[in-house]
Amino acid sequence: MSNPPLRIGVAGLGTVGIGVIRVLSEQSSMISARCNREVKVVAISAQDPNKKRGLDLSNYIWYSDPLSMATDENIDVVVEVIGGSSGIAKDLVESALNNKKHVITANKALIASAGLDLARSAEHVGKTIGFEAAVAGGVPIVKAIREGLSGSNIQQLFGILNGTCNYILSEMRETGRDFDEVLGEAQDLGYAEADPTFDIDGVDSAHKLAILTSIAFGCEINFDSIQIEGIRHISPLDIQFASDLGYRIKLLGMARKTEAGIQQRVHPCMVPVSAPIAHVEGVYNAVVTEGSFVGRTMYEGRGAGEGPTASAVVADIIDIALSRNTNLFLVPTVKLERMQVAPVSSYIGSYYARFMVTDKTGVFATIANALNDNGVSMESVLQRGRSKNEAVPVVLTTHETDEASLIRALEAIERSKVVFEPPRFVKIESF
Ligand SMILES: NC(=O)c1ccc[n+]([C@@H]2O[C@H](COP(=O)([O-])OP(=O)(O)OC[C@H]3O[C@@H](n4cnc5c(N)ncnc54)[C@H](OP(=O)(O)O)[C@@H]3O)[C@@H](O)[C@H]2O)c1
Repeated sequence: MSNPPLRIGVAGLGTVGIGVIRVLSEQSSMISARCNREVKVVAISAQDPNKKRGLDLSNYIWYSDPLSMATDENIDVVVEVIGGSSGIAKDLVESALNNKKHVITANKALIASAGLDLARSAEHVGKTIGFEAAVAGGVPIVKAIREGLSGSNIQQLFGILNGTCNYILSEMRETGRDFDEVLGEAQDLGYAEADPTFDIDGVDSAHKLAILTSIAFGCEINFDSIQIEGIRHISPLDIQFASDLGYRIKLLGMARKTEAGIQQRVHPCMVPVSAPIAHVEGVYNAVVTEGSFVGRTMYEGRGAGEGPTASAVVADIIDIALSRNTNLFLVPTVKLERMQVAPVSSYIGSYYARFMVTDKTGVFATIANALNDNGVSMESVLQRGRSKNEAVPVVLTTHETDEASLIRALEAIERSKVVFEPPRFVKIESF
């Protein structure tokens, strides 16, 4: 091989960083053959130089300050796997680009918040930022949209973008346990962080959705316009009713082009059991795209963990080794359009709603009148259990309505005091 080796600096030696070193070393001859040059890690950085990391790292130059990698002339590619949308991770990526190095990152928070500026900097210096690992871990969805689907005008995409939430919802459905209990188990198993807020409140999914929307629709990333709702309030009762009605509850990230603009939403949805995405269970992720000429395509795999995430980072390394350059957001940053954001009033669909009520005459009429007054028409009603003294659930599904009308009706029902707790509602998506 006459080509010079590609020299890598890995900043961050946690789950992903160690995985990258392992994938590169255990498959070094295969990767070198694919790159037609040697790919070698030359330098590493983390906080604690004495931590046992399960690999012999003695051959690599140790940097206690990862920013030093950005100025090291013996490094061609900086792999940022520290994390965080600001601070050292952002400083490192900016500095590496300023010093004309390629960058690879698994950091969705950083790309969702600063991806456009970073892409501009990368274009300016003629380098690239690989971020395949930032969206859905081992599922090559960035590559799929940016390369395999580049001949199609994508109109809609949706997906399960957070394995922790999908694991929790799957376990709740299979075992009937409640959210807190399953979350605790997910933390014990290492599927959920000690602070799971970003995952269960939908922020992590929204970071990934913001990135995919930009690539798929050719518009600037717009994280702030995403309507975000997590899974904390999903109860075993809702999951059971969903099953009875022929649905499963999934936390979905969805982006759609509509006449009113682009809708970006992350929230729990009821999806028909017949839809393939309803069967994506446990820690798996999946993304479905719909575009001109090609129609619907679907991608599924492990969205996190050492092996899958590192495999995506290494795929980006191989692209750099082969000088396979693609615009980071499919079109040059100057061609990215300002996103025209669809107003919430444009959200139309069918809904599931649950009310905890006393089993008395007149209660149902109050609910029906409030819906009627706000132009919401019912499709079906279910009531389980009878008790004169305790709250019993009444569940209904609606015909197509706009979300604002439904919310007005639910607020009126709550004010009328026939319910014991605020009504719950979940959008039904009929994919
Ligand atoms: N874990 C996954 O499955 C996964 C999947 C997709 C994307 N990602 C993304 O990948 C990135 C890394 O995730 P991870 O799970 O590998 O994180 P992690 O296990 O917490 O590892 C973070 C690493 O960064 C190092 N670090 C922290 N502050 C530093 C500093 N100031 N200077 C140098 N090193 C520093 C830590 O050093 P010490 O070890 O010495 O403390 C640690 O090695 C994040 O952006 C995450 O969102 C992770």
